[in-house]
Amino acid sequence: MADAPLTVVDDGAIRWITVNRPDKLNALNRETLEALDSAFLAAGQEESVRVVVLTGAGPKAFVAGADIAEMNGLTPVQGRDFSLLGQAVMRRIERLPKPVIARINGFALGGGLELAMACHLRVAADSARVGQPEINLGLIPGFGGSQRLLRLCGRAATLELLLLGAPITAARALQLGIVNEVVAADALDARVNELSTQLARSAPLALRGILDAVHVGGECTLADGLEYESAQFGLMFATEDMREGTSAFLARRPPVFQNR
Ligand code: COA
Repeated sequence: MADAPLTVVDDGAIRWITVNRPDKLNALNRETLEALDSAFLAAGQEESVRVVVLTGAGPKAFVAGADIAEMNGLTPVQGRDFSLLGQAVMRRIERLPKPVIARINGFALGGGLELAMACHLRVAADSARVGQPEINLGLIPGFGGSQRLLRLCGRAATLELLLLGAPITAARALQLGIVNEVVAADALDARVNELSTQLARSAPLALRGILDAVHVGGECTLADGLEYESAQFGLMFATEDMREGTSAFLARRPPVFQNR
């Protein structure tokens, strides 16, 4: 039997989802996309999960793109369906009500960068290379790359990455705002553990409020975004965690959040 396209492991409240096709540099075929969709649906629903870390198996790649062998035989209708499937998976990840960290351990190309950009935080090893090389295949990005890259780093860098198709270093990706942090490859796990542990201890309903407000704000006018922020802010006063956080501050003790 073929290996499962993903591995899913819990470390306390932190769920690690690993794309597991290292011999194909974790390329995203249909089966892997469907497995990612199910895994993120479950991670969103299970209350015990507070944070998700998404990464790729093996030493070389986070995800080296959509599966080129599979795409090679597609008709236009199948191509559109493949794009819609990929976009739906990215959307599910982006809209997950809990933080998702991309642990970029190597190549994040094409669909791999699109996958990383759907996550909420991106930490890259200094050895990682990222890019949108679809142009070299006579293609364009199909899992949201032309839109999310534009929103992350602006028109000049987006057009450079898309038109030229050349991968860039993790250091340049940091300069452009595509990743949040770059660390030495052998320090990647320690940093991801540190970030995910902090997020797992944070107030889950407030994390969700932040994710919602930033997401909505990215898709509407400033006036509408501000209205939405106020509504979310007000909602926090219905939570026990807000009482706990403010009481703990006043009592000079660490807060213990309960997701209530
Ligand atoms: N889809 C399908 N298979 C892929 C793949 C992809 N996106 N990326 C890599 N692979 C496969 C290779 O075909 C190879 O399989 P094989 O051993 O059965 O021949 C295996 O993964 C290892 O890749 P290889 O190219 O031999 O590794 P490398 O170290 O020489 O090069 C890359 C690494 C990332 C530079 C190169 O694999 C590459 O350019 N991949 C495609 C990147 C891309 O265009 N992504 C966007 C797709 S839309």
